[in-house]
Amino acid sequence: MPRIALIPGDGIGVEVVREARRVLEFIAEAEGADFELVDWDLGADRFLRDGITITDEEFNALDQDHDAVLLGALGDPRVPSNQHAKDILLGMRFKLDLYVNFRPCVLLSPSLSPLASAPALRLEIFRENTEGEYTGMGGAMRVDTPAEVAIEENIATRLGVERIVRAAFEYADTRGRSRVTLVDKANVMRFVGGLWRRVFEEVASEYPHIEADAMYVDAMAMDLVRRPERYQVLVASNLFGDIISDLAAEITGGLGMAPSANIHPGRNALFEPVHGSAPDIAGQEKANPIGAIRCVALMMDHFGLRAAGERIESSVVTCFENGQTTEDLGGSLSTTEAATAIIDHVRSAYAEHG
Ligand code: NAD
Ligand code: IPM
Ligand code: MN
Repeated sequence: MPRIALIPGDGIGVEVVREARRVLEFIAEAEGADFELVDWDLGADRFLRDGITITDEEFNALDQDHDAVLLGALGDPRVPSNQHAKDILLGMRFKLDLYVNFRPCVLLSPSLSPLASAPALRLEIFRENTEGEYTGMGGAMRVDTPAEVAIEENIATRLGVERIVRAAFEYADTRGRSRVTLVDKANVMRFVGGLWRRVFEEVASEYPHIEADAMYVDAMAMDLVRRPERYQVLVASNLFGDIISDLAAEITGGLGMAPSANIHPGRNALFEPVHGSAPDIAGQEKANPIGAIRCVALMMDHFGLRAAGERIESSVVTCFENGQTTEDLGGSLSTTEAATAIIDHVRSAYAEHG
Protein backbone atom coordinates (compact mmCIF):
# COMPACT_ATOMS: atom_id res chain seq x y z
CA MET A 1 0.00 0.00 0.00
CA PRO A 2 1.75 3.23 -1.10
CA ARG A 3 2.15 5.75 1.71
CA ILE A 4 2.19 9.32 0.49
CA ALA A 5 3.30 12.24 2.67
CA LEU A 6 1.46 15.50 2.01
CA ILE A 7 3.30 18.70 2.94
CA PRO A 8 1.09 21.67 2.06
CA GLY A 9 3.69 24.16 3.33
CA ASP A 10 2.97 27.87 2.97
CA GLY A 11 0.73 30.28 1.09
CA ILE A 12 -1.01 28.78 -1.92
CA GLY A 13 0.79 25.51 -1.23
CA VAL A 14 -1.98 24.82 1.28
CA GLU A 15 -4.71 25.52 -1.26
CA VAL A 16 -3.25 23.50 -4.13
CA VAL A 17 -2.28 20.47 -2.03
CA ARG A 18 -5.80 20.38 -0.61
CA GLU A 19 -7.06 19.98 -4.20
CA ALA A 20 -4.34 17.53 -5.25
CA ARG A 21 -5.38 15.41 -2.25
CA ARG A 22 -8.93 15.18 -3.65
CA VAL A 23 -7.51 14.00 -6.99
CA LEU A 24 -5.41 11.38 -5.19
CA GLU A 25 -8.46 10.20 -3.25
CA PHE A 26 -10.47 9.92 -6.44
CA ILE A 27 -7.75 7.98 -8.30
CA ALA A 28 -7.32 5.63 -5.33
CA GLU A 29 -11.04 4.85 -5.45
CA ALA A 30 -11.19 4.51 -9.26
CA GLU A 31 -8.07 2.34 -9.49
CA GLY A 32 -8.84 0.33 -6.37
CA ALA A 33 -5.43 1.46 -5.12
CA ASP A 34 -4.95 1.78 -1.41
CA PHE A 35 -3.06 5.06 -0.98
CA GLU A 36 -2.40 6.04 2.59
CA LEU A 37 -2.23 9.83 2.73
CA VAL A 38 -0.26 11.18 5.67
CA ASP A 39 -0.47 14.89 6.55
CA TRP A 40 2.73 16.65 7.57
CA ASP A 41 2.84 19.96 9.38
CA LEU A 42 6.05 21.48 8.00
CA GLY A 43 6.36 25.10 6.97
CA ALA A 44 6.54 28.68 8.20
CA ASP A 45 3.76 28.26 10.81
CA ARG A 46 5.53 25.39 12.48
CA PHE A 47 8.89 27.17 12.33
CA LEU A 48 7.44 30.34 13.85
CA ARG A 49 5.58 28.33 16.48
CA ASP A 50 8.26 25.82 17.55
CA GLY A 51 11.49 27.27 16.17
CA ILE A 52 12.04 23.99 14.31
CA THR A 53 12.18 23.63 10.54
CA ILE A 54 12.56 19.84 10.22
CA THR A 55 14.31 17.25 12.37
CA ASP A 56 16.58 14.37 11.38
CA GLU A 57 13.88 11.94 12.57
CA GLU A 58 11.42 13.59 10.22
CA PHE A 59 13.82 13.30 7.28
CA ASN A 60 14.28 9.64 8.11
CA ALA A 61 10.55 9.06 8.37
CA LEU A 62 9.89 10.82 5.07
CA ASP A 63 12.61 8.76 3.46
CA GLN A 64 11.96 5.34 4.95
CA ASP A 65 8.25 5.22 5.81
CA HIS A 66 6.83 6.80 2.65
CA ASP A 67 6.78 5.91 -1.03
CA ALA A 68 6.36 9.49 -2.22
CA VAL A 69 6.04 13.03 -0.94
CA LEU A 70 3.86 15.82 -2.35
CA LEU A 71 4.91 19.32 -1.32
CA GLY A 72 2.91 22.50 -2.04
CA ALA A 73 5.39 25.36 -1.61
CA LEU A 74 7.59 26.92 1.04
CA GLY A 75 8.22 30.62 1.43
CA ASP A 76 6.60 33.14 3.75
CA PRO A 77 7.13 36.88 4.14
CA ARG A 78 7.28 36.34 7.93
CA VAL A 79 10.48 34.31 7.41
CA PRO A 80 12.68 36.65 5.33
CA SER A 81 15.72 34.37 5.72
CA ASN A 82 13.76 31.60 3.96
CA GLN A 83 15.51 29.26 6.41
CA HIS A 84 12.66 26.76 6.61
CA ALA A 85 12.45 26.43 2.81
CA LYS A 86 16.18 25.80 2.60
CA ASP A 87 16.10 23.27 5.45
CA ILE A 88 13.00 21.40 4.32
CA LEU A 89 12.99 21.57 0.51
CA LEU A 90 16.72 21.65 -0.18
CA GLY A 91 17.15 19.37 2.83
CA MET A 92 14.97 16.71 1.25
CA ARG A 93 16.64 17.07 -2.14
CA PHE A 94 20.11 16.74 -0.61
CA LYS A 95 19.61 14.33 2.30
CA LEU A 96 17.37 12.00 0.34
CA ASP A 97 19.80 12.38 -2.60
CA LEU A 98 16.98 13.16 -5.03
CA TYR A 99 19.42 13.94 -7.81
CA VAL A 100 16.98 14.17 -10.73
CA ASN A 101 14.73 17.20 -10.80
CA PHE A 102 12.46 16.33 -13.71
CA ARG A 103 10.45 19.29 -14.97
CA PRO A 104 8.26 18.49 -17.95
CA CYS A 105 6.93 21.61 -19.66
CA VAL A 106 4.33 20.36 -22.09
CA LEU A 107 2.10 22.73 -24.01
CA LEU A 108 -1.36 21.18 -23.68
CA SER A 109 -3.11 23.61 -26.00
CA PRO A 110 -1.58 26.22 -28.40
CA SER A 111 -3.57 29.11 -26.89
CA LEU A 112 -1.94 28.53 -23.50
CA SER A 113 1.35 29.91 -24.80
CA PRO A 114 2.22 33.62 -24.78
CA LEU A 115 4.30 33.02 -27.92
CA ALA A 116 2.80 34.52 -31.08
CA SER A 117 2.81 31.24 -32.94
CA ALA A 118 2.92 28.30 -30.62
CA PRO A 119 3.96 25.00 -32.12
CA ALA A 120 3.55 21.73 -30.21
CA LEU A 121 5.99 21.88 -27.34
CA ARG A 122 7.31 19.16 -25.07
CA LEU A 123 10.35 20.44 -23.19
CA GLU A 124 11.53 17.97 -20.60
CA ILE A 125 14.12 19.38 -18.26
CA PHE A 126 16.52 17.27 -16.24
CA ARG A 127 17.83 19.63 -13.58
CA GLU A 128 20.74 18.41 -11.45
CA ASN A 129 19.43 18.63 -7.91
CA THR A 130 22.24 18.02 -5.42
CA GLU A 131 25.23 20.15 -6.47
CA GLY A 132 26.06 23.41 -8.27
CA GLU A 133 25.57 26.68 -6.42
CA TYR A 134 23.02 25.07 -4.07
CA THR A 135 25.28 23.18 -1.66
CA GLY A 136 25.68 26.07 0.77
CA MET A 137 29.47 25.84 0.49
CA GLY A 138 30.84 29.29 0.95
CA GLY A 139 30.91 31.98 3.50
CA ALA A 140 31.10 35.64 4.21
CA MET A 141 33.37 37.88 6.19
CA ARG A 142 33.29 41.51 7.27
CA VAL A 143 29.55 41.44 6.68
CA ASP A 144 27.88 44.84 6.63
CA THR A 145 31.16 46.67 6.21
CA PRO A 146 32.50 48.26 3.03
CA ALA A 147 35.06 45.43 2.90
CA GLU A 148 32.48 42.63 2.89
CA VAL A 149 33.49 39.42 1.11
CA ALA A 150 30.99 36.74 0.03
CA ILE A 151 31.74 33.39 -1.58
CA GLU A 152 29.22 30.87 -2.93
CA GLU A 153 30.97 27.89 -4.48
CA ASN A 154 29.82 26.06 -7.60
CA ILE A 155 30.31 22.34 -6.97
CA ALA A 156 30.33 19.71 -9.70
CA THR A 157 31.44 16.12 -9.24
CA ARG A 158 31.94 13.55 -11.95
CA LEU A 159 29.49 11.24 -10.18
CA GLY A 160 26.87 13.98 -9.86
CA VAL A 161 27.17 15.16 -13.44
CA GLU A 162 27.29 11.69 -14.92
CA ARG A 163 24.18 10.41 -13.15
CA ILE A 164 21.97 13.32 -14.24
CA VAL A 165 23.26 13.26 -17.83
CA ARG A 166 22.69 9.51 -17.91
CA ALA A 167 19.16 9.95 -16.54
CA ALA A 168 18.39 12.40 -19.36
CA PHE A 169 19.69 10.06 -22.09
CA GLU A 170 18.02 7.04 -20.53
CA TYR A 171 14.71 8.90 -20.46
CA ALA A 172 15.12 10.06 -24.08
CA ASP A 173 15.97 6.51 -25.12
CA THR A 174 13.08 4.79 -23.35
CA ARG A 175 10.48 7.46 -24.23
CA GLY A 176 11.46 7.81 -27.88
CA ARG A 177 12.87 11.33 -27.79
CA SER A 178 15.45 12.09 -30.49
CA ARG A 179 17.47 14.97 -29.02
CA VAL A 180 19.17 15.78 -25.72
CA THR A 181 20.63 19.26 -25.24
CA LEU A 182 23.11 20.27 -22.57
CA VAL A 183 22.60 23.78 -21.19
CA ASP A 184 25.75 25.27 -19.67
CA LYS A 185 28.14 28.20 -19.65
CA ALA A 186 31.26 26.33 -20.65
CA ASN A 187 32.63 29.37 -22.49
CA VAL A 188 33.18 31.07 -19.13
CA MET A 189 33.14 28.33 -16.51
CA ARG A 190 36.10 26.35 -17.72
CA PHE A 191 36.38 23.87 -14.86
CA VAL A 192 32.77 23.04 -14.11
CA GLY A 193 31.73 23.57 -17.73
CA GLY A 194 34.61 21.45 -18.96
CA LEU A 195 33.59 18.54 -16.73
CA TRP A 196 29.96 18.75 -17.88
CA ARG A 197 30.99 18.86 -21.57
CA ARG A 198 33.34 15.88 -21.30
CA VAL A 199 30.87 13.75 -19.37
CA PHE A 200 28.03 14.74 -21.71
CA GLU A 201 30.04 13.68 -24.76
CA GLU A 202 31.04 10.39 -23.14
CA VAL A 203 27.48 9.46 -22.20
CA ALA A 204 26.12 10.70 -25.53
CA SER A 205 28.48 8.34 -27.37
CA GLU A 206 26.62 5.43 -25.74
CA TYR A 207 23.40 6.64 -27.39
CA PRO A 208 24.48 7.21 -31.02
CA HIS A 209 20.85 7.23 -32.24
CA ILE A 210 20.05 10.27 -30.07
CA GLU A 211 21.17 13.66 -31.33
CA ALA A 212 23.23 15.42 -28.66
CA ASP A 213 24.12 19.07 -28.67
CA ALA A 214 24.99 21.88 -26.26
CA MET A 215 23.84 25.49 -25.85
CA TYR A 216 25.11 28.24 -23.61
CA VAL A 217 22.43 29.17 -21.11
CA ASP A 218 22.10 32.77 -22.28
CA ALA A 219 21.58 31.65 -25.87
CA MET A 220 19.15 29.02 -24.65
CA ALA A 221 17.05 31.66 -22.88
CA MET A 222 16.77 33.44 -26.20
CA ASP A 223 16.19 30.30 -28.25
CA LEU A 224 13.43 29.01 -25.96
CA VAL A 225 11.46 32.07 -27.00
CA ARG A 226 12.59 32.09 -30.64
CA ARG A 227 12.29 28.42 -31.64
CA PRO A 228 11.41 26.25 -28.64
CA GLU A 229 10.17 23.47 -30.92
CA ARG A 230 13.81 22.67 -31.68
CA TYR A 231 14.28 21.23 -28.17
CA GLN A 232 13.12 18.06 -26.46
CA VAL A 233 15.11 16.84 -23.45
CA LEU A 234 17.30 19.46 -21.75
CA VAL A 235 19.90 18.68 -19.11
CA ALA A 236 21.34 21.41 -16.91
CA SER A 237 23.06 22.17 -13.65
CA ASN A 238 21.01 23.03 -10.57
CA LEU A 239 20.94 26.81 -11.04
CA PHE A 240 20.63 26.85 -14.83
CA GLY A 241 17.90 24.21 -14.59
CA ASP A 242 16.04 26.34 -12.06
CA ILE A 243 16.09 29.35 -14.36
CA ILE A 244 15.25 27.69 -17.66
CA SER A 245 12.44 25.69 -16.06
CA ASP A 246 10.57 28.88 -15.13
CA LEU A 247 11.04 30.12 -18.69
CA ALA A 248 9.95 26.82 -20.21
CA ALA A 249 6.95 26.75 -17.83
CA GLU A 250 5.90 30.22 -18.90
CA ILE A 251 5.93 29.45 -22.63
CA THR A 252 3.88 26.31 -22.02
CA GLY A 253 1.04 27.77 -19.96
CA GLY A 254 2.54 29.56 -16.99
CA LEU A 255 3.92 28.76 -13.59
CA GLY A 256 0.53 27.68 -12.29
CA MET A 257 0.56 24.67 -14.61
CA ALA A 258 4.05 23.22 -14.25
CA PRO A 259 4.74 20.12 -12.13
CA SER A 260 8.07 18.65 -11.09
CA ALA A 261 9.44 15.43 -9.67
CA ASN A 262 12.57 15.22 -7.52
CA ILE A 263 13.68 11.64 -7.84
CA HIS A 264 16.36 9.22 -6.80
CA PRO A 265 15.50 6.46 -9.28
CA GLY A 266 14.45 3.30 -7.49
CA ARG A 267 14.38 4.96 -4.10
CA ASN A 268 12.30 7.98 -3.25
CA ALA A 269 10.44 10.78 -4.95
CA LEU A 270 9.25 14.23 -3.98
CA PHE A 271 6.69 15.92 -6.20
CA GLU A 272 6.11 19.68 -6.14
CA PRO A 273 4.63 22.25 -8.47
CA VAL A 274 7.34 24.50 -9.95
CA HIS A 275 5.61 27.61 -8.58
CA GLY A 276 6.16 29.06 -5.12
CA SER A 277 3.88 30.10 -2.29
CA ALA A 278 2.63 33.19 -4.19
CA PRO A 279 2.04 35.45 -1.16
CA ASP A 280 0.36 37.97 -3.51
CA ILE A 281 -2.64 35.69 -4.06
CA ALA A 282 -2.47 33.36 -1.05
CA GLY A 283 -5.69 32.74 0.85
CA GLN A 284 -7.85 34.16 -1.92
CA GLU A 285 -8.81 30.95 -3.71
CA LYS A 286 -7.16 32.30 -6.86
CA ALA A 287 -4.34 29.77 -7.11
CA ASN A 288 -4.34 27.55 -10.14
CA PRO A 289 -4.30 23.96 -8.80
CA ILE A 290 -3.11 22.45 -12.10
CA GLY A 291 0.62 22.36 -11.27
CA ALA A 292 -0.12 20.39 -8.12
CA ILE A 293 -2.68 18.19 -9.87
CA ARG A 294 -0.20 17.40 -12.64
CA CYS A 295 2.20 16.39 -9.85
CA VAL A 296 -0.35 13.71 -9.02
CA ALA A 297 -0.19 12.63 -12.68
CA LEU A 298 3.60 12.38 -12.44
CA MET A 299 3.25 10.44 -9.19
CA MET A 300 0.88 7.98 -10.83
CA ASP A 301 3.41 7.51 -13.64
CA HIS A 302 6.05 6.90 -10.97
CA PHE A 303 3.83 4.24 -9.35
CA GLY A 304 3.32 2.56 -12.74
CA LEU A 305 -0.26 3.84 -13.12
CA ARG A 306 0.49 5.62 -16.40
CA ALA A 307 -3.10 5.49 -17.69
CA ALA A 308 -4.33 7.30 -14.57
CA GLY A 309 -1.73 10.00 -15.15
CA GLU A 310 -2.81 10.36 -18.78
CA ARG A 311 -6.45 10.73 -17.74
CA ILE A 312 -5.52 13.56 -15.40
CA GLU A 313 -3.53 15.27 -18.16
CA SER A 314 -6.32 14.99 -20.71
CA SER A 315 -8.89 16.25 -18.18
CA VAL A 316 -6.72 19.33 -17.64
CA VAL A 317 -6.81 19.94 -21.42
CA THR A 318 -10.59 19.49 -21.57
CA CYS A 319 -11.10 21.96 -18.72
CA PHE A 320 -8.87 24.50 -20.39
CA GLU A 321 -10.70 24.11 -23.70
CA ASN A 322 -14.05 24.53 -21.87
CA GLY A 323 -12.82 27.69 -20.12
CA GLN A 324 -13.11 25.93 -16.73
CA THR A 325 -10.03 27.59 -15.27
CA THR A 326 -8.78 29.98 -12.63
CA GLU A 327 -8.15 33.65 -13.46
CA ASP A 328 -4.50 33.26 -14.47
CA LEU A 329 -5.70 31.18 -17.44
CA GLY A 330 -8.52 33.57 -18.30
CA GLY A 331 -11.33 31.81 -16.44
CA SER A 332 -13.29 32.80 -13.36
CA LEU A 333 -13.25 29.64 -11.24
CA SER A 334 -11.90 29.42 -7.71
CA THR A 335 -9.12 26.98 -6.86
CA THR A 336 -11.63 24.41 -5.62
CA GLU A 337 -14.01 24.86 -8.55
CA ALA A 338 -11.18 24.43 -11.05
CA ALA A 339 -10.07 21.22 -9.32
CA THR A 340 -13.64 19.93 -9.14
CA ALA A 341 -14.00 20.45 -12.91
CA ILE A 342 -10.86 18.40 -13.51
CA ILE A 343 -11.99 15.62 -11.15
CA ASP A 344 -15.39 15.53 -12.91
CA HIS A 345 -13.67 14.93 -16.27
CA VAL A 346 -11.41 12.26 -14.77
CA ARG A 347 -14.54 10.61 -13.36
CA SER A 348 -16.19 10.66 -16.81
CA ALA A 349 -13.07 9.08 -18.34
CA TYR A 350 -13.25 6.21 -15.82
CA ALA A 351 -17.01 5.86 -16.35
CA GLU A 352 -16.51 5.69 -20.13
CA HIS A 353 -13.44 3.47 -20.35
CA GLY A 354 -13.48 1.61 -17.07
P1 NAD B 1 5.84 32.35 -7.07
O1 NAD B 1 5.90 31.18 -7.99
O2 NAD B 1 5.30 32.10 -5.73
O3 NAD B 1 4.96 33.50 -7.77
C1 NAD B 1 5.35 34.16 -8.98
C2 NAD B 1 4.09 34.76 -9.64
O4 NAD B 1 3.32 33.71 -10.23
C3 NAD B 1 3.16 35.47 -8.65
O5 NAD B 1 2.60 36.61 -9.28
C4 NAD B 1 2.09 34.46 -8.34
O6 NAD B 1 0.85 35.00 -7.99
C5 NAD B 1 2.02 33.67 -9.66
N1 NAD B 1 1.66 32.26 -9.41
C6 NAD B 1 2.49 31.31 -8.91
N2 NAD B 1 1.83 30.16 -8.78
C7 NAD B 1 0.57 30.38 -9.19
C8 NAD B 1 -0.59 29.57 -9.28
N3 NAD B 1 -0.60 28.26 -8.91
N4 NAD B 1 -1.73 30.13 -9.75
C9 NAD B 1 -1.76 31.42 -10.12
N5 NAD B 1 -0.69 32.23 -10.08
C10 NAD B 1 0.46 31.72 -9.60
O7 NAD B 1 7.33 32.95 -7.01
P2 NAD B 1 7.92 34.10 -6.06
O8 NAD B 1 6.92 35.20 -5.90
O9 NAD B 1 9.25 34.38 -6.62
O10 NAD B 1 8.15 33.37 -4.66
C11 NAD B 1 7.27 33.44 -3.54
C12 NAD B 1 7.82 32.56 -2.44
O11 NAD B 1 7.81 31.19 -2.86
C13 NAD B 1 9.28 32.86 -2.10
O12 NAD B 1 9.43 32.73 -0.71
C14 NAD B 1 10.07 31.79 -2.84
O13 NAD B 1 11.32 31.51 -2.25
C15 NAD B 1 9.11 30.62 -2.71
N6 NAD B 1 9.27 29.56 -3.72
C16 NAD B 1 9.07 28.29 -3.27
C17 NAD B 1 9.12 27.24 -4.17
C18 NAD B 1 8.91 25.86 -3.65
O14 NAD B 1 8.66 25.67 -2.46
N7 NAD B 1 8.96 24.83 -4.47
C19 NAD B 1 9.33 27.48 -5.53
C20 NAD B 1 9.51 28.81 -5.96
C21 NAD B 1 9.46 29.85 -5.04
C1 IPM C 1 12.31 25.74 -7.19
C2 IPM C 1 12.52 26.89 -6.25
C3 IPM C 1 13.59 26.53 -5.23
C4 IPM C 1 14.89 26.34 -5.98
C5 IPM C 1 13.77 27.52 -4.07
C6 IPM C 1 12.48 27.87 -3.40
C7 IPM C 1 14.75 27.01 -3.06
O1 IPM C 1 12.83 28.04 -6.95
O2 IPM C 1 11.96 24.63 -6.73
O3 IPM C 1 12.45 25.93 -8.40
O4 IPM C 1 15.63 27.30 -6.24
O5 IPM C 1 15.18 25.20 -6.34
MN1 MN D 1 12.64 27.82 -9.14
